[in-house]
Amino acid sequence: MPDSFDVIVIGSGPGGYVCAIRAAQLGLKVACVEKRETLGGTCLNVGCIPSKALLHSSENFEKAGHGLAEHGIVIGDIKLDLAKMQARKADVVGANVKGVEFLFRKNKIAWLKGTGRIAAAGKVDVDGTEYETKHIVIATGSESTPLRGVEVDEKRIVTSTGALELDKVPEHLVVIGAGVIGLELGSVWRRLGARVTVIEFLDRILPGMDSELATAARRVLARQGLAFRLGAKVTGAVTNETRVTLTVEPASGGASEQIAADVVLLAIGRRPWLEGVGPDVALDERGRIRTDGRFATNIPGIYAIGDAIAGPMLAHKAEDEGVALAERLAGKAGHVNYAVIPGVVYTWPEIASVGQTEEELKAAGIAYNVGKFPFTANGRARAMGDTDGFVKLLADKTTDRLLGAHILGPDAGTLIAELAIAMEFGASSEDVARTCHAHPSLNEAVKEAALAVEGRALHI
Ligand code: FAD
Ligand code: NAI
Repeated sequence: MPDSFDVIVIGSGPGGYVCAIRAAQLGLKVACVEKRETLGGTCLNVGCIPSKALLHSSENFEKAGHGLAEHGIVIGDIKLDLAKMQARKADVVGANVKGVEFLFRKNKIAWLKGTGRIAAAGKVDVDGTEYETKHIVIATGSESTPLRGVEVDEKRIVTSTGALELDKVPEHLVVIGAGVIGLELGSVWRRLGARVTVIEFLDRILPGMDSELATAARRVLARQGLAFRLGAKVTGAVTNETRVTLTVEPASGGASEQIAADVVLLAIGRRPWLEGVGPDVALDERGRIRTDGRFATNIPGIYAIGDAIAGPMLAHKAEDEGVALAERLAGKAGHVNYAVIPGVVYTWPEIASVGQTEEELKAAGIAYNVGKFPFTANGRARAMGDTDGFVKLLADKTTDRLLGAHILGPDAGTLIAELAIAMEFGASSEDVARTCHAHPSLNEAVKEAALAVEGRALHI
């Protein structure tokens, strides 16, 4: 008689492990299949957590080298111990993945180690052992999108996984793709001493984000030393022992040129990982598992969440889907509000957004007011010496309801949470403007931007 469960989740990333925990909290008998040696998926092992560890360490390194003198702190020569920085990153990852193991034990979730394959609805095979279950959740995540002519070897031509593991600072790092990974990991290696060139197909960075915010971010990042080649495409790469030579053409066509790099980071997006999971669940036009909006696939009893389905490829989106699905499987009313999912790029300054952009509002024909406030006029930002950027709020012209919030600035990723909550509660810009904000705080820039929606900012 095979072991049987109420729910088997395939994949232990933030979608899968959170779904497993919530389902167990609700009294279901749960197992989670993971083929990696450790739990936590892309996010904890090779994504969010290690990248944020290196972003933080490299920020400290840069501050020690350049940022402290204006505060009257004089230090002598600073030296990079990259091996130690990488070891610290590994410790941070280790603590996080062990944390998920602990949560599995606490919630009595069975960890089925190996590769999961759906034999049929209600049956999951894990490396030759079959398990029975009422419900199956596919949470297999995503992988880096390949580019024809640019063969990844994770040494000279790397994805984010290889870029997190470099044991030497490259002299010249070329990044293909000015998206989130390109800007975050490009920033890490620039701060540690690399010359960094970012090649982007479009004529802007961070497609999908508010274009005013993206343009301002590009200016700040360029000033920090990232060199941008916009409107350009890479058509080939030749690797030898020490270098990669890229062929680069204008996106609109024209003469090609060669660019040499020690390391090339390919970061042109991610695509769902579904290899060998079977059976044939229906996919959409972009290779993502098609769901009915409530995580059900076309096969009864099989559900999907996270990077494997449509929507932003973000850990917190995957988590919220995991919770909502677990609640539905337990007979409750789980729900995700896709209109209010914040996105944060952890460069410095940070770049954060929630809700609609100006371009989206224009395209939808929605009339709106804009309120903006720069960090140069915020007392706390001045005290910190971090005055790059601004807060921009978009509110419905008729009702004043907040429709979007976009922040470039210090701790923008933390500041955006206030606006996500406001939007979740259907707040107007006036609600935010009339809320008492502590002084001196960065959040006062949010309040001032809300006041600015009706032209009554106080400090500008
Ligand atoms: P994943 O985390 O990809 O987990 C899927 C798991 O399923 C994997 O462990 C895989 O081994 C396992 N699996 C697959 N197939 C099988 C199988 N057949 N059997 C058993 N196991 C299987 N998002 C943010 O919100 N914030 C960030 O700061 C952030 N930073 C990132 C940085 C990098 C470098 C990268 C690459 C991504 C980052 N992301 C970030 C995105 C985030 O990691 C993903 O959105 C998130 O991990 C998706 O979660 P998931 O549960 O859908 O899948
Ligand atoms: P992305 O979708 O953010 O950016 C890819 C970029 O590559 C785009 O600007 C695109 O126009 C460009 N591009 C596409 N094809 C190209 C080509 N042939 N040549 C040059 N440029 C090309 O994807 P990225 O950066 O790889 O990240 C993948 C996912 O991981 C993202 O969807 C993101 O959600 C997630 N992630 C999230 C993070 C965060 O929340 N802080 C951090 C890192 C990743």
